[in-house]
Amino acid sequence: MSDKKVIFVAGGAGYIGSHMTRLLLEEGFKPIVFDNLSTGFREFVPKEARFVRGDLRRERDIENALERYRPSAVMHFAAALVVPESVSDPLKYYENNVAAAITLLRAMRRQKVKRIIFSSTAAVYGEPQRIPVREDNPACPVNPYGRSKLMIEAILKDTAYAYPEDFRYISLRYFNVAGAHPAGGIGQKGPQITHLIPNILRAAMGSKKLTVFGKDWPTPDGTCIRDYIHVVDLCQAHLLALKAFDRGVNNEIFNLGSSKGFSVKAMIRAVEQVTGKKVPHRYGPRRPGDPARLIASSKKAREILGWRPRYGLDEIIETAWQWENR
Ligand code: UFG
Repeated sequence: MSDKKVIFVAGGAGYIGSHMTRLLLEEGFKPIVFDNLSTGFREFVPKEARFVRGDLRRERDIENALERYRPSAVMHFAAALVVPESVSDPLKYYENNVAAAITLLRAMRRQKVKRIIFSSTAAVYGEPQRIPVREDNPACPVNPYGRSKLMIEAILKDTAYAYPEDFRYISLRYFNVAGAHPAGGIGQKGPQITHLIPNILRAAMGSKKLTVFGKDWPTPDGTCIRDYIHVVDLCQAHLLALKAFDRGVNNEIFNLGSSKGFSVKAMIRAVEQVTGKKVPHRYGPRRPGDPARLIASSKKAREILGWRPRYGLDEIIETAWQWENR
């Protein structure tokens, strides 16, 4: 018998997974963090959570953990997630993301774990036909990262169709996740941070000039537009998804974004305002794999999950700034 309170958090030592683990503990769940620490950090895992060092590409590692802890659901955060890297090293993305997901699903089947909340991405849309993009917009990814996540969504759908009594999923398509826990201690970390907000903040700190990738995009100011969402709000949506399973919400896809778009130039201005520091920057060529505009319609998550994001752009920048200044 599975234990309703036990949740298996694959990738729970990473940036988003560690925020989720904290939230699960706060809500009285028992998270089992499963992570190979390739991009995660042991110190991000609270001592109240169980930690299993293991690799999703090794079925035995997963099965042992599932057998031992009997979770009622899996949250799957473990993945390679850097868009430009996926263009230069696509096989890494198909192996780390697609192959590992198959291994995880097989282990779940064998151990009779029936529910999964999957971390998908706005990158599945590619260059959306309509903005804000809804879940029924055709998915035409423009980079291997987005394609790897779309493949996994197809695998989830087929698996749910094949085993309707024994397998259910909710796929959450994240837009640009940023910010850090207001209480500190966890955040975006690593030798190769490629994401915009940490890079702008580091430029504001004087460590490295920001390069803006392209100023000739088909947008009002020529720079790319993205929809930024606070990591804690994002994790709240996972808790709501977990509860939604109990109401019979199954095999659904939800966008998670703020429904507001900000250009790279607007982000630089916002950081300058919040931090009171200048952001030294220059313009470089477009970055391969980037779509021009991504803004979410999150109506479905609001209506079906009852999701209400609480943090705005200033709080995203403030909490990320606190983290960078730790
Ligand atoms: N950018 C710069 N300079 C930088 C870093 C980024 O100009 O130093 C630009 C990028 O070209 C892009 C925008 O800022 O236009 C945002 O780039 P990020 O690297 O921060 O994020 P991406 O939009 O490429 O990707 C992120 C996640 C994906 C997710 C996607 C969804 O990494 O997992 O958001 O929108 F799919």
